[in-house]
Amino acid sequence: MTLTEDIARLKFEIEQNSFQNAEDVERYRIQYISKKGFIPALFERFKEVIPEDRKAVGKLLNELKQFAEQKWNAGSEEFNKESKKEKEGLFDYSAPGWTMPKGSRHPLSVVANEINSIFSRLGFSIAEGPEIEDDWHIFSALNFPEEHPARDMQDTFFIEKNPDMALRTHTSSVQIRMMESKNPPLRLLMPGRVYRNEAISARAHCFFHQVEGLYVDENVSFADLKQTLLTFSRELFGEDTKIRLRPSYFPFTEPSAEMDISCTVCKGAGCNICKYTGWVEILGCGMVHPNVMKNCGIDDEKYTGFAFGMGIERIAILKYQVKDLRLFSQNDMRFLKQFRTEW
Ligand code: PHE
Repeated sequence: MTLTEDIARLKFEIEQNSFQNAEDVERYRIQYISKKGFIPALFERFKEVIPEDRKAVGKLLNELKQFAEQKWNAGSEEFNKESKKEKEGLFDYSAPGWTMPKGSRHPLSVVANEINSIFSRLGFSIAEGPEIEDDWHIFSALNFPEEHPARDMQDTFFIEKNPDMALRTHTSSVQIRMMESKNPPLRLLMPGRVYRNEAISARAHCFFHQVEGLYVDENVSFADLKQTLLTFSRELFGEDTKIRLRPSYFPFTEPSAEMDISCTVCKGAGCNICKYTGWVEILGCGMVHPNVMKNCGIDDEKYTGFAFGMGIERIAILKYQVKDLRLFSQNDMRFLKQFRTEW
């Protein structure tokens, strides 16, 4: 008989098989599936098949094998030890069940998700960009002068093989990618990991997370920026949160500001979190610099925009009063277990 005929015959035989107990299942396994069984024997004969037929016969063989194994699995399930015990009345219904440990979200994900959700409700969509970036997107297009200290090896991790590439030092690079590729109006939130060449301590790490915001349209003003940030701060930290903007400098925004919120721990009375000032800085922001718009091919006469960027760790530290930044990346269960799961 040909191999194809034998395959068909064996399939028919397997179909006829039925199990009454675990012994039947084991007998079946030995007869058909085990190393010395019928199915491996058919596989042995595959060598004889002429090359033109190999594809078709191979398929039939594999199907047979699968079919036989499925039948065996179903049989073992039906007659396995547990159910046997159950039938014999040996099953202990009072034994405690298996516990399924419930995971919890990482605190940084909790905070990032909360920030994303607040801005989604304000009409912002989420966008992402690469962590390994070229000089153009991290610095040049953002109006950084050639001699800016952030371009220094001391602050930035450059890629050895290609000095034009580096690990992004901020998520502002994603602003550029979005403005280059999309037309206004743009209302985007861009979360992601960033890298800086810093010595690791309780207060600094060589990587952390930021979320960048960008709004470009006709007639976007500084008042829009301020109101957006106020709404955001109240949503995240509570209705009674106050904000304060201090003039600052970033090459890619003009005017630029840094924003403080009233200290969430002492409510402004003074404590060691706010260094007894009543305020804590949480983000940098400003109106998108006309040079940046031009670099991305956006008409800076027609459009204006605002941007802001904040550190997610910083917000998490404030919200949960975490004392050491390193805890976020050490994966210590005693720390991670303390955060809620619903986000
Ligand atoms: N990129 C700035 C930083 O990393 C933050 C920022 C973003 C400031 C957008 C202004 C506008 O510090």
